[in-house]
Amino acid sequence: MNSKKELYSELVPKVSALIDKEANIIANLANIAAILNAELSCLWVGFYLVEGKELVVGPFQGPVACTTIAFGRGVCGKCWELKETILVDDVSQFADHIACSADSKSEIVVPVFDSNNNVQMVLDIDSSHLAAFDEEDKSGLEAIATLITALL
Ligand code: SME
Repeated sequence: MNSKKELYSELVPKVSALIDKEANIIANLANIAAILNAELSCLWVGFYLVEGKELVVGPFQGPVACTTIAFGRGVCGKCWELKETILVDDVSQFADHIACSADSKSEIVVPVFDSNNNVQMVLDIDSSHLAAFDEEDKSGLEAIATLITALL
C-alpha cells in the first residue's frame, strides 16, 4: 500500500485537474468530496460553508449530517474560530464534539480561506477508526484547501 505522502502527491494534482476547467464552486466542491471519498478511507467527507454566524452543510458524501453548526461549536465551529486545522484522534475525548453519526471515531477539519484570510468554509472528514488522520493528511488536505482558495 502507498504511503499517505505518496497518496497526496497524486491526489492533490488530481483535484487540481478536476476543478481546473469549472468555475462553479458548488460543482467543484461536490467533485472534491467525491474524489476524497473514493481515495481516502472515511465515513463522511464534505464541506460546511460559512453563512453569517453559522456553518451550513454543503456538498458531501456519507450519511445524513447536521445542517447547521454555530461559530465556535463542535470541531467544525472551533476550526472556524481558531482558523486552523484540528485533528481529533478520539472524538469521545473532544468535549464539544457534535456527533452526526455514532460510528464516527476520529476526525480532521481543515479551514478554507478566501484571499483576505477569512474562513469561507471548512473541509470535514470523519473516520469510523480511531486516530485515522495524521500530519500527512493535514498537509495534503491543506494543499487541497489552497486550491479551493484560488477559486473564491
Ligand atoms: N463532528 C462535527 C460535526 C459535523 S459531522 O461530523 C459531519 C463537529 O463536531 O463539528
